[in-house]
Amino acid sequence: MHLQYLLPVALAAVAAAQNRTLAQAIAGQSSLTTFQSLLSAQPDLVRALSNASSITILAPSNDAFSKFLSTTDGKAASAQPDVVAAVLQYHVLNAEVPGSAFTTTPQFVPSLLTNSTYANVTGGQVVEGVLNGKTVEIYSGLKLKSTVTTADITFQGGVMHIIDNVLTIPPSDAVTAVDSQLTSLAGALTKANLVTAVDDLKDVTIFAPSNDAFKQIGGTAESLSTQQLTTILEYHVIKGTVGYSTLLIGGLANETLPSLSGAGLNILIEDNKVFVDSAQVTMADIIVANGVMHVIGNVLNPDNTSATPNPTATTQSVAFAGATSAANAPFTSGINPTTTAPAAGITSKAAAARQTGAIGAAALFGGAAMIAVNL
Ligand SMILES: *[C@@H]1O[C@H](CO)[C@@H](O)[C@H](O)[C@H]1NC(C)=O
Ligand SMILES: *[C@@H]1O[C@H](CO)[C@@H](O)[C@H](O)[C@H]1NC(C)=O
Ligand SMILES: *[C@@H]1O[C@H](CO)[C@@H](O)[C@H](O)[C@H]1NC(C)=O
Ligand SMILES: *[C@@H]1O[C@H](CO)[C@@H](O)[C@H](O)[C@H]1NC(C)=O
Ligand SMILES: *[C@@H]1O[C@H](CO)[C@@H](O)[C@H](O)[C@H]1NC(C)=O
Ligand SMILES: *[C@@H]1O[C@H](CO)[C@@H](O)[C@H](O)[C@H]1NC(C)=O
Repeated sequence: MHLQYLLPVALAAVAAAQNRTLAQAIAGQSSLTTFQSLLSAQPDLVRALSNASSITILAPSNDAFSKFLSTTDGKAASAQPDVVAAVLQYHVLNAEVPGSAFTTTPQFVPSLLTNSTYANVTGGQVVEGVLNGKTVEIYSGLKLKSTVTTADITFQGGVMHIIDNVLTIPPSDAVTAVDSQLTSLAGALTKANLVTAVDDLKDVTIFAPSNDAFKQIGGTAESLSTQQLTTILEYHVIKGTVGYSTLLIGGLANETLPSLSGAGLNILIEDNKVFVDSAQVTMADIIVANGVMHVIGNVLNPDNTSATPNPTATTQSVAFAGATSAANAPFTSGINPTTTAPAAGITSKAAAARQTGAIGAAALFGGAAMIAVNL
């Protein structure tokens, strides 16, 4: 056959593809039958989606759902229509992002998940999307990775990508800290009775010192008064700004942001590294229920707001003059990390290599119970 005959047929196919309804687009994919049946049990969401424009659907494959549902918590979740609705809402992005729009610079795209039972982020909880080589990767709670396996299935209201892992709704700050081996921070928040106060805030940026950072001042830290500890911890929290890495590197570079303690935090970008005061961000962009958490290599000192980094050094000086270190991470007694989540300080790429499944589901659905028991 000649090209001139093929071309109109091909164009018609494209037009038909773009003019498909969402239901037709899903029905056309043999790997989306579980997604289809879960969606069909959510008439409110189906109605909203059928009428939506400029959205992106991240559709987990049947394999992704069977991994998810093979866990005890995933199975329990699937029996709760409210939870299923929230999980599905997190898989719908409020912008049309075709595969070609993802770049090596991360993008934080808001989803339809706005219910404050699950997220306290203005405009909806986000996913992080980034291009790694030729692969589009989507990061959700606990920095768990989903990979786009089939991109750009178009329909009237937008575009759909098939992903290989169900997204994890980002857990609270305290659950995320425990699950990310930031057990000193979790313990310190507990000791200062700040867990609920911080978890209930809306739109936060949390600078989370690693356990090694706490160890550096561990000899002194345990003897701080509750008031001193509270002020120090509050100095690690910015309220009212969700400072994803792109924002820190962009509009917030060289800015001083007010922390909960009242003192200002200085954001500095030097030598391609991100610093807050003198502490380096060692792992960026762990999405949490109420914003974003960045792991840092030093505990910040609210009485040392003029501390500046040595950008070419691999580690930074302790920001508390005279503080003594400890062999073990302080505040961790009674707090047991439940997973082998990324140890603080490793790169996000390494963290990203982790598998989802039991970990994500446990954190999502068992997290609240776990924190109550362990903290
Ligand atoms: C798309 O479908 C609608 C009806 O569902 C129709 O009115 C419209 O003409 C179609 N558009 C194209 C470009 O085929
Ligand atoms: C669909 O959207 C239009 C325009 O936004 C609105 O007028 C209409 O009521 C919506 N229909 C449904 C079924 O939600
Ligand atoms: C928010 O989530 C809760 C718990 O799942 C649910 O009971 C409630 O109906 C949801 N609210 C909305 C507006 O969907
Ligand atoms: C959101 O904040 C409210 C209090 O403002 C709190 O009750 C709720 O638990 C928070 N949601 C999450 C997911 O932490
Ligand atoms: C931040 O300040 C440094 C030193 O004053 C300057 O060289 C740099 O251009 C500033 N960066 C931005 C993004 O304003
Ligand atoms: C402030 O932090 C720097 C490290 O950035 C440290 O050398 C200095 O001793 C600290 N000063 C006080 C008063 O804690």
